Amino acid sequence: MDAQFWDERYATREQLFSGAPNGVLLAEVTGLTPGQALDVGCGEGADAHWLARQGWQVTAVDISRLALERAAAAAPDTAGRVAWTRADLTVVPPPAGAFDLVSAHYFPLPRQPEHTALRGLLEAVAPGGTLLFTGHRLAGLPPAAELGLDPADFYRPDEIAGLLGQDWAVLVDETRPRTAPAPSGTHHTHDTVLRARRLR
Ligand SMILES: C[S@@+](CC[C@H](N)C(=O)[O-])C[C@H]1O[C@@H](n2cnc3c(N)ncnc32)[C@H](O)[C@@H]1O
Repeated sequence: MDAQFWDERYATREQLFSGAPNGVLLAEVTGLTPGQALDVGCGEGADAHWLARQGWQVTAVDISRLALERAAAAAPDTAGRVAWTRADLTVVPPPAGAFDLVSAHYFPLPRQPEHTALRGLLEAVAPGGTLLFTGHRLAGLPPAAELGLDPADFYRPDEIAGLLGQDWAVLVDETRPRTAPAPSGTHHTHDTVLRARRLR
């Protein structure tokens, strides 16, 4: 799942995702004091635009140039409040301690023995800041061969909760129904959600 994979995936459709911000983002971030936010794997940018409109200064990162072009063009009103950034977050970690919110929705983060890329994302959260990591519930999904990838190769939110340690308070670690219908052609009816606060 490299840049070419994602660019080709985006190129299959004029718009790959709904254009609406994720329900979990709205549920968990509404009410937080805006500051610096990192949108991890921002895709076509709906979450980043929503955050910017709530007063956040957003760094929106994606590996796909095509997704970033679409995202930047989608909502000119947020220009200047979103920095669209192309990077492979499994290789280049974001700046440490720089963000009041690190938000990752359906970001395919490959499991690594030393958790290097994951640790980079966790380190990006400033003390007092929030980590929001949302995935698809795996129960009920078709077998890996049918999906074309094995979900077991990627971190689950509940697994990340178990890796956080004493510097974190886990506020939400649960599975819940999606607020939006499953995207067409998918079996994604439920989200798994981790929300944690970095204490120090
Ligand atoms: C399933 S999409 C989710 C997009 C968006 N967060 C949303 O909820 O609509 C995953 C996104 O992560 C991006 N991505 C995948 N691997 C990446 C990596 N190693 N570094 C940065 N972005 C990556 C893909 O290009 C894609 O836009």
